[in-house]
Amino acid sequence: VTTRPFEVVDLAEWPLPMDDEPAIPQTGQYDRDHTLAWSRKIAAAPAFVFVTPQYNGGYPAALKNAIDHLYQEWAGKPAAIVTYGGHGGGRCGDQLDAVCRFVKLKPVATRAALTLPHEVITGNSGDIDPAQIFAAQRAAVQDALVELDHALMGPEPQAS
Ligand SMILES: Cc1cc2nc3c(=O)[nH]c(=O)nc-3n(C[C@H](O)[C@H](O)[C@H](O)COP(=O)(O)O)c2cc1C
Repeated sequence: VTTRPFEVVDLAEWPLPMDDEPAIPQTGQYDRDHTLAWSRKIAAAPAFVFVTPQYNGGYPAALKNAIDHLYQEWAGKPAAIVTYGGHGGGRCGDQLDAVCRFVKLKPVATRAALTLPHEVITGNSGDIDPAQIFAAQRAAVQDALVELDHALMGPEPQAS
């Protein structure tokens, strides 16, 4: 779909304390070393693919907190949203889309919603074969990545 390089940024490796900056992030005045590091990480990325589970009809607090720690670093960049859960996580996708737009990210049109079988959720081992278990959503993931790729290329040149 794309040959662009990518990096997996796992929030489990970015344990940002909840809402701990004294100033509002819109000012870009960060006080904490972890926020400065997080700012550098996000500022360096031209686009994002958010992959998130749905928790009780929303997306996890850790993801909101990670978004809320920054502001300008997100602005103007394209993003794709991939959700997963027992029912695909559509509600959490809606919420994340709205918050992305608030921080001026530009979500692509296609959203992939990956459905996990009940036994996978209750087993909770993380041991899955994505090619098999997410086969039905493969096309949506590919479409979203192609749209992200196009967004990174900018507008089509106008015919003269
Ligand atoms: C607190 C909690 C709430 C959940 N709520 C939903 C839900 O509203 N809809 C859904 O489809 N799945 C829901 N699930 C199932 C998760 O999406 C599923 O277990 C997923 O694999 C969790 O991902 P994680 O292991 O990366 O946290 C919930 C799971 C947890 C732990």
